[in-house]
Amino acid sequence: MPTVLALETSCDESAAAIVRDREVLASAVASQIEEHARWGGVVPEIASRRHLEALPPLIERVCLESGLAIRELDAVAATVAPGLVGALLAGSVTARTLARLHGLPFLGIHHLEGHLCSVLLGEAMPPGPYLVLLVSGGHTELVRVEAPGVYRRLGRSHDDAAGECFDKVARLLGLGYPGGPAIQAAAEGGDPGRFLLPKGRVSKPGGGFLPYDFSFSGLKTAVLRRVEDLRASGEPLPLADLAASFEQVVAAVLVERSCRCAREQGLDTLVLVGGVAANRRLRQRLAREAAAQGLRWRVAPLAYCTDNAAMIGVAAAARLAQGCRSPLELGVAARLPLEEAGRLYETQPCF
Ligand code: KG4
Ligand code: ZN
Repeated sequence: MPTVLALETSCDESAAAIVRDREVLASAVASQIEEHARWGGVVPEIASRRHLEALPPLIERVCLESGLAIRELDAVAATVAPGLVGALLAGSVTARTLARLHGLPFLGIHHLEGHLCSVLLGEAMPPGPYLVLLVSGGHTELVRVEAPGVYRRLGRSHDDAAGECFDKVARLLGLGYPGGPAIQAAAEGGDPGRFLLPKGRVSKPGGGFLPYDFSFSGLKTAVLRRVEDLRASGEPLPLADLAASFEQVVAAVLVERSCRCAREQGLDTLVLVGGVAANRRLRQRLAREAAAQGLRWRVAPLAYCTDNAAMIGVAAAARLAQGCRSPLELGVAARLPLEEAGRLYETQPCF
Protein backbone atom coordinates (compact mmCIF):
# COMPACT_ATOMS: atom_id res chain seq x y z
CA MET A 1 0.00 0.00 0.00
CA PRO A 2 1.82 3.11 -1.20
CA THR A 3 2.20 6.11 1.13
CA VAL A 4 2.34 9.48 -0.60
CA LEU A 5 2.98 13.11 0.33
CA ALA A 6 0.68 15.26 -1.82
CA LEU A 7 0.56 19.01 -2.38
CA GLU A 8 -2.31 21.06 -3.83
CA THR A 9 -1.82 24.70 -4.88
CA SER A 10 -3.88 25.11 -8.06
CA CYS A 11 -5.96 28.05 -6.83
CA ASP A 12 -6.48 29.70 -3.44
CA GLU A 13 -6.00 26.83 -0.99
CA SER A 14 -2.51 25.68 -0.03
CA ALA A 15 -2.73 22.08 1.10
CA ALA A 16 -0.55 19.12 2.07
CA ALA A 17 -1.54 15.58 2.99
CA ILE A 18 -0.04 12.17 3.63
CA VAL A 19 -2.21 9.37 2.28
CA ARG A 20 -1.71 5.61 2.49
CA ASP A 21 -3.71 3.95 -0.27
CA ARG A 22 -7.23 5.31 0.54
CA GLU A 23 -6.50 6.29 4.15
CA VAL A 24 -5.71 9.89 5.10
CA LEU A 25 -2.87 9.84 7.68
CA ALA A 26 -2.74 13.65 7.88
CA SER A 27 -4.29 16.50 5.93
CA ALA A 28 -3.90 20.26 6.34
CA VAL A 29 -5.33 23.17 4.36
CA ALA A 30 -4.29 26.84 4.67
CA SER A 31 -7.01 28.88 3.02
CA GLN A 32 -6.23 32.25 1.50
CA ILE A 33 -9.91 33.01 1.06
CA GLU A 34 -9.99 35.94 3.49
CA GLU A 35 -7.20 37.69 1.68
CA HIS A 36 -8.80 37.25 -1.76
CA ALA A 37 -12.28 38.09 -0.41
CA ARG A 38 -11.24 41.77 -0.22
CA TRP A 39 -10.89 41.76 -4.02
CA GLY A 40 -14.04 39.71 -4.68
CA GLY A 41 -12.06 36.89 -6.33
CA VAL A 42 -8.67 35.21 -6.55
CA VAL A 43 -5.66 37.45 -7.31
CA PRO A 44 -3.10 35.13 -8.99
CA GLU A 45 0.03 37.00 -7.84
CA ILE A 46 -1.09 36.98 -4.21
CA ALA A 47 -2.01 33.29 -4.47
CA SER A 48 1.48 32.25 -5.68
CA ARG A 49 3.25 34.17 -2.93
CA ARG A 50 1.01 32.82 -0.19
CA HIS A 51 1.50 29.23 -1.42
CA LEU A 52 5.27 29.63 -1.15
CA GLU A 53 4.93 30.87 2.43
CA ALA A 54 2.35 28.29 3.46
CA LEU A 55 3.86 25.08 2.08
CA PRO A 56 6.88 24.52 4.40
CA PRO A 57 4.84 24.67 7.65
CA LEU A 58 2.03 22.59 6.10
CA ILE A 59 4.49 19.86 5.06
CA GLU A 60 6.08 19.88 8.50
CA ARG A 61 2.66 19.60 10.10
CA VAL A 62 1.49 16.56 8.09
CA CYS A 63 4.82 14.81 8.72
CA LEU A 64 4.48 15.42 12.47
CA GLU A 65 0.80 14.35 12.54
CA SER A 66 1.42 11.16 10.59
CA GLY A 67 4.65 10.41 12.48
CA LEU A 68 6.40 9.85 9.14
CA ALA A 69 9.55 11.41 7.71
CA ILE A 70 9.66 12.14 3.98
CA ARG A 71 12.32 9.48 3.37
CA GLU A 72 9.88 6.84 4.70
CA LEU A 73 7.33 7.65 1.96
CA ASP A 74 6.90 5.99 -1.44
CA ALA A 75 6.37 9.10 -3.58
CA VAL A 76 5.78 12.84 -3.64
CA ALA A 77 2.90 14.25 -5.71
CA ALA A 78 1.58 17.68 -6.66
CA THR A 79 -1.23 19.10 -8.77
CA VAL A 80 0.29 20.22 -12.09
CA ALA A 81 -2.81 21.12 -14.17
CA PRO A 82 -5.22 22.78 -14.67
CA GLY A 83 -5.00 25.96 -12.58
CA LEU A 84 -3.15 29.25 -12.12
CA VAL A 85 0.34 28.68 -13.52
CA GLY A 86 2.26 30.56 -10.81
CA ALA A 87 0.25 28.86 -8.08
CA LEU A 88 0.74 25.39 -9.62
CA LEU A 89 4.48 26.02 -9.90
CA ALA A 90 4.79 26.68 -6.16
CA GLY A 91 3.51 23.17 -5.34
CA SER A 92 5.13 21.39 -8.25
CA VAL A 93 8.63 22.80 -7.72
CA THR A 94 8.41 22.02 -3.99
CA ALA A 95 7.30 18.43 -4.67
CA ARG A 96 9.94 17.83 -7.35
CA THR A 97 12.68 19.22 -5.10
CA LEU A 98 11.65 16.93 -2.23
CA ALA A 99 11.42 13.93 -4.57
CA ARG A 100 14.88 14.63 -5.96
CA LEU A 101 16.44 15.22 -2.52
CA HIS A 102 15.00 12.01 -1.06
CA GLY A 103 15.32 9.85 -4.17
CA LEU A 104 11.55 9.27 -4.43
CA PRO A 105 9.30 9.05 -7.49
CA PHE A 106 7.36 12.20 -8.41
CA LEU A 107 3.78 12.18 -9.71
CA GLY A 108 2.10 15.16 -11.33
CA ILE A 109 -1.66 14.96 -10.78
CA HIS A 110 -4.56 16.40 -12.77
CA HIS A 111 -6.65 18.52 -10.40
CA LEU A 112 -9.94 17.10 -11.70
CA GLU A 113 -8.68 13.53 -11.28
CA GLY A 114 -8.06 14.54 -7.66
CA HIS A 115 -11.70 15.65 -7.33
CA LEU A 116 -12.91 12.44 -9.00
CA CYS A 117 -10.83 10.36 -6.58
CA SER A 118 -12.07 12.30 -3.51
CA VAL A 119 -15.01 9.87 -3.32
CA LEU A 120 -12.50 7.07 -2.59
CA LEU A 121 -11.70 8.78 0.72
CA GLY A 122 -15.19 7.75 1.86
CA GLU A 123 -15.74 4.41 0.16
CA ALA A 124 -14.09 2.03 -2.26
CA MET A 125 -15.51 2.26 -5.76
CA PRO A 126 -16.07 -0.44 -8.33
CA PRO A 127 -13.49 -0.08 -11.14
CA GLY A 128 -16.12 1.36 -13.50
CA PRO A 129 -17.95 2.31 -15.51
CA TYR A 130 -19.83 4.97 -13.54
CA LEU A 131 -20.87 8.60 -13.98
CA VAL A 132 -19.41 11.51 -12.02
CA LEU A 133 -20.98 14.96 -11.68
CA LEU A 134 -18.00 17.21 -10.99
CA VAL A 135 -19.05 20.69 -9.84
CA SER A 136 -16.43 23.18 -8.70
CA GLY A 137 -15.51 26.85 -9.03
CA GLY A 138 -13.91 26.28 -12.42
CA HIS A 139 -15.68 23.22 -13.83
CA THR A 140 -19.12 21.66 -14.29
CA GLU A 141 -18.72 18.33 -16.03
CA LEU A 142 -20.35 14.96 -16.41
CA VAL A 143 -17.54 12.42 -16.67
CA ARG A 144 -17.87 8.76 -17.54
CA VAL A 145 -15.20 6.83 -15.63
CA GLU A 146 -14.56 3.80 -17.79
CA ALA A 147 -11.82 2.34 -15.59
CA PRO A 148 -9.32 3.96 -13.17
CA GLY A 149 -7.63 6.76 -15.15
CA VAL A 150 -9.81 6.32 -18.24
CA TYR A 151 -12.31 9.17 -18.65
CA ARG A 152 -14.80 10.46 -21.19
CA ARG A 153 -16.59 13.78 -20.79
CA LEU A 154 -20.28 13.49 -21.63
CA GLY A 155 -21.46 16.95 -20.58
CA ARG A 156 -20.18 20.36 -19.53
CA SER A 157 -21.14 23.97 -18.90
CA HIS A 158 -20.86 26.22 -21.93
CA ASP A 159 -20.34 29.37 -19.85
CA ASP A 160 -20.01 29.80 -16.05
CA ALA A 161 -19.19 26.82 -13.85
CA ALA A 162 -21.80 26.08 -11.16
CA GLY A 163 -19.47 27.32 -8.38
CA GLU A 164 -18.66 30.45 -10.34
CA CYS A 165 -22.40 31.10 -10.64
CA PHE A 166 -22.80 30.72 -6.84
CA ASP A 167 -19.92 33.20 -6.40
CA LYS A 168 -21.35 35.77 -8.86
CA VAL A 169 -24.91 35.56 -7.53
CA ALA A 170 -23.62 35.89 -3.96
CA ARG A 171 -21.78 39.04 -5.00
CA LEU A 172 -24.85 40.61 -6.57
CA LEU A 173 -26.90 39.75 -3.47
CA GLY A 174 -24.24 41.46 -1.35
CA LEU A 175 -23.23 38.19 0.34
CA GLY A 176 -19.61 37.19 0.91
CA TYR A 177 -16.96 35.31 -1.07
CA PRO A 178 -16.83 32.37 -1.65
CA GLY A 179 -20.47 32.49 -2.64
CA GLY A 180 -21.45 28.84 -2.15
CA PRO A 181 -21.31 28.71 1.65
CA ALA A 182 -22.69 32.28 1.87
CA ILE A 183 -25.74 31.42 -0.27
CA GLN A 184 -26.31 28.17 1.60
CA ALA A 185 -26.36 30.07 4.91
CA ALA A 186 -28.60 32.85 3.54
CA ALA A 187 -31.03 30.28 2.07
CA GLU A 188 -31.69 28.77 5.49
CA GLY A 189 -35.43 29.06 6.15
CA GLY A 190 -36.08 30.70 2.75
CA ASP A 191 -38.89 29.68 0.38
CA PRO A 192 -37.27 27.89 -2.59
CA GLY A 193 -40.50 28.14 -4.59
CA ARG A 194 -40.96 31.92 -4.33
CA PHE A 195 -38.97 32.94 -7.42
CA LEU A 196 -39.20 30.96 -10.65
CA LEU A 197 -35.74 31.04 -12.25
CA PRO A 198 -34.61 29.55 -15.61
CA LYS A 199 -32.76 26.24 -15.83
CA GLY A 200 -30.61 27.27 -18.81
CA ARG A 201 -30.25 24.98 -21.80
CA VAL A 202 -27.72 24.73 -24.59
CA SER A 203 -29.06 24.63 -28.16
CA LYS A 204 -27.91 21.91 -30.47
CA PRO A 205 -26.84 23.02 -33.93
CA GLY A 206 -29.68 21.91 -36.22
CA GLY A 207 -32.34 22.09 -33.49
CA GLY A 208 -33.15 20.80 -30.03
CA PHE A 209 -30.95 20.94 -26.96
CA LEU A 210 -27.79 19.21 -25.77
CA PRO A 211 -29.24 16.93 -23.07
CA TYR A 212 -26.21 16.69 -20.76
CA ASP A 213 -24.83 20.23 -21.07
CA PHE A 214 -25.36 23.26 -18.86
CA SER A 215 -25.57 27.04 -19.12
CA PHE A 216 -25.60 29.20 -16.00
CA SER A 217 -25.11 32.72 -17.37
CA GLY A 218 -28.83 33.25 -18.06
CA LEU A 219 -29.67 32.22 -14.51
CA LYS A 220 -27.25 34.78 -13.14
CA THR A 221 -28.84 37.50 -15.32
CA ALA A 222 -32.34 36.41 -14.23
CA VAL A 223 -31.37 36.84 -10.56
CA LEU A 224 -29.90 40.26 -11.39
CA ARG A 225 -33.19 41.35 -13.06
CA ARG A 226 -35.21 40.19 -10.02
CA VAL A 227 -32.91 42.09 -7.69
CA GLU A 228 -33.18 45.24 -9.83
CA ASP A 229 -37.00 45.01 -9.90
CA LEU A 230 -37.19 44.43 -6.14
CA ARG A 231 -34.81 47.32 -5.46
CA ALA A 232 -36.83 49.62 -7.77
CA SER A 233 -40.00 48.76 -5.81
CA GLY A 234 -38.23 49.96 -2.66
CA GLU A 235 -38.83 46.69 -0.81
CA PRO A 236 -36.03 45.23 1.32
CA LEU A 237 -34.44 42.29 -0.59
CA PRO A 238 -35.98 38.95 0.47
CA LEU A 239 -32.49 37.44 0.67
CA ALA A 240 -33.47 34.06 2.13
CA ASP A 241 -36.11 33.45 -0.58
CA LEU A 242 -33.82 34.62 -3.38
CA ALA A 243 -30.92 32.45 -2.16
CA ALA A 244 -33.17 29.41 -1.63
CA SER A 245 -34.81 29.78 -5.06
CA PHE A 246 -31.41 30.07 -6.72
CA GLU A 247 -29.97 27.09 -4.85
CA GLN A 248 -33.05 25.06 -5.72
CA VAL A 249 -32.86 25.64 -9.47
CA VAL A 250 -29.10 24.91 -9.61
CA ALA A 251 -29.59 21.67 -7.67
CA ALA A 252 -32.59 20.70 -9.85
CA VAL A 253 -30.80 21.21 -13.16
CA LEU A 254 -27.62 19.44 -12.05
CA VAL A 255 -29.48 16.44 -10.68
CA GLU A 256 -32.01 16.13 -13.54
CA ARG A 257 -29.37 16.12 -16.27
CA SER A 258 -27.00 13.83 -14.35
CA CYS A 259 -29.68 11.23 -13.68
CA ARG A 260 -30.86 11.38 -17.29
CA CYS A 261 -27.28 10.96 -18.53
CA ALA A 262 -26.65 7.98 -16.23
CA ARG A 263 -29.89 6.29 -17.31
CA GLU A 264 -29.47 6.89 -21.03
CA GLN A 265 -25.81 5.84 -20.99
CA GLY A 266 -26.59 2.63 -19.10
CA LEU A 267 -24.59 3.62 -16.01
CA ASP A 268 -26.04 2.46 -12.71
CA THR A 269 -23.88 4.56 -10.35
CA LEU A 270 -23.81 8.37 -10.00
CA VAL A 271 -21.07 10.13 -8.00
CA LEU A 272 -21.03 13.76 -6.83
CA VAL A 273 -17.68 15.57 -6.24
CA GLY A 274 -16.14 19.08 -6.22
CA GLY A 275 -16.53 22.24 -4.12
CA VAL A 276 -20.25 22.66 -4.96
CA ALA A 277 -20.81 19.05 -3.80
CA ALA A 278 -20.53 20.54 -0.30
CA ASN A 279 -23.98 22.09 -0.87
CA ARG A 280 -26.54 20.48 1.42
CA ARG A 281 -29.54 20.97 -0.87
CA LEU A 282 -27.64 19.46 -3.82
CA ARG A 283 -26.43 16.45 -1.80
CA GLN A 284 -29.95 15.76 -0.53
CA ARG A 285 -31.60 16.18 -3.92
CA LEU A 286 -29.08 13.95 -5.68
CA ALA A 287 -29.51 11.21 -3.09
CA ARG A 288 -33.31 11.42 -3.32
CA GLU A 289 -33.60 11.52 -7.13
CA ALA A 290 -30.93 8.91 -7.79
CA ALA A 291 -32.55 6.51 -5.35
CA ALA A 292 -36.00 7.17 -6.87
CA GLN A 293 -34.63 6.30 -10.31
CA GLY A 294 -32.97 3.11 -9.11
CA LEU A 295 -29.43 4.50 -9.40
CA ARG A 296 -26.70 3.87 -6.86
CA TRP A 297 -25.17 7.11 -5.65
CA ARG A 298 -22.05 8.22 -3.80
CA VAL A 299 -21.10 11.68 -2.54
CA ALA A 300 -17.54 12.74 -1.68
CA PRO A 301 -17.02 13.18 2.09
CA LEU A 302 -17.91 16.79 3.04
CA ALA A 303 -14.38 17.47 4.31
CA TYR A 304 -12.89 16.61 0.89
CA CYS A 305 -15.29 18.41 -1.49
CA THR A 306 -13.51 21.77 -1.64
CA ASP A 307 -9.84 21.84 -2.64
CA ASN A 308 -7.56 19.72 -0.46
CA ALA A 309 -4.43 17.61 -0.84
CA ALA A 310 -5.88 14.32 0.45
CA MET A 311 -7.76 13.89 -2.84
CA ILE A 312 -4.51 14.51 -4.74
CA GLY A 313 -2.82 11.92 -2.51
CA VAL A 314 -5.44 9.24 -3.11
CA ALA A 315 -5.25 9.88 -6.88
CA ALA A 316 -1.44 9.64 -6.70
CA ALA A 317 -1.52 6.40 -4.68
CA ALA A 318 -3.80 4.87 -7.34
CA ARG A 319 -1.55 6.03 -10.18
CA LEU A 320 1.56 4.80 -8.36
CA ALA A 321 -0.05 1.38 -7.88
CA GLN A 322 -0.63 1.29 -11.66
CA GLY A 323 3.12 1.86 -12.19
CA CYS A 324 2.84 5.53 -13.22
CA ARG A 325 5.73 7.98 -12.64
CA SER A 326 6.17 11.54 -13.95
CA PRO A 327 9.47 12.85 -15.28
CA LEU A 328 11.12 15.32 -12.87
CA GLU A 329 11.25 17.83 -15.75
CA LEU A 330 7.43 17.89 -16.00
CA GLY A 331 6.16 21.48 -15.88
CA VAL A 332 2.68 22.84 -15.18
CA ALA A 333 -0.21 23.86 -17.45
CA ALA A 334 -3.17 26.22 -17.09
CA ARG A 335 -5.28 23.80 -19.14
CA LEU A 336 -5.28 20.08 -19.79
CA PRO A 337 -8.38 18.03 -20.68
CA LEU A 338 -9.08 15.33 -18.09
CA GLU A 339 -9.08 12.71 -20.86
CA GLU A 340 -5.39 13.51 -21.35
CA ALA A 341 -4.32 13.03 -17.70
CA GLY A 342 -2.34 9.92 -18.72
CA ARG A 343 0.11 12.16 -20.62
CA LEU A 344 1.53 13.27 -17.24
CA TYR A 345 3.19 9.82 -16.99
CA GLU A 346 4.87 9.73 -20.39
CA THR A 347 8.67 9.43 -20.29
CA GLN A 348 9.09 12.73 -22.13
CA PRO A 349 7.42 15.62 -20.25
CA CYS A 350 4.25 16.68 -22.09
CA PHE A 351 4.85 20.33 -21.01
O1 KG4 B 1 -13.47 22.55 -5.82
P1 KG4 B 1 -13.26 23.92 -5.30
O2 KG4 B 1 -12.78 24.10 -3.89
O3 KG4 B 1 -12.25 24.72 -6.20
C1 KG4 B 1 -12.17 24.56 -7.57
O4 KG4 B 1 -11.52 23.57 -8.03
O5 KG4 B 1 -12.79 25.41 -8.26
O6 KG4 B 1 -14.65 24.67 -5.51
C2 KG4 B 1 -14.84 25.99 -5.07
C3 KG4 B 1 -16.28 26.40 -5.39
C4 KG4 B 1 -16.56 27.87 -5.15
O7 KG4 B 1 -17.18 28.42 -6.29
C5 KG4 B 1 -17.51 27.83 -3.96
O8 KG4 B 1 -18.44 28.91 -3.96
C6 KG4 B 1 -18.19 26.50 -4.14
O9 KG4 B 1 -17.18 25.63 -4.59
N1 KG4 B 1 -18.75 25.99 -2.88
C7 KG4 B 1 -20.08 25.80 -2.68
C8 KG4 B 1 -20.22 25.38 -1.33
N2 KG4 B 1 -18.97 25.33 -0.76
C9 KG4 B 1 -18.08 25.69 -1.74
N3 KG4 B 1 -21.13 25.95 -3.50
C10 KG4 B 1 -22.36 25.68 -3.00
N4 KG4 B 1 -22.58 25.32 -1.72
C11 KG4 B 1 -21.55 25.15 -0.86
N5 KG4 B 1 -21.79 24.78 0.41
ZN1 ZN C 1 -10.91 22.08 -7.19
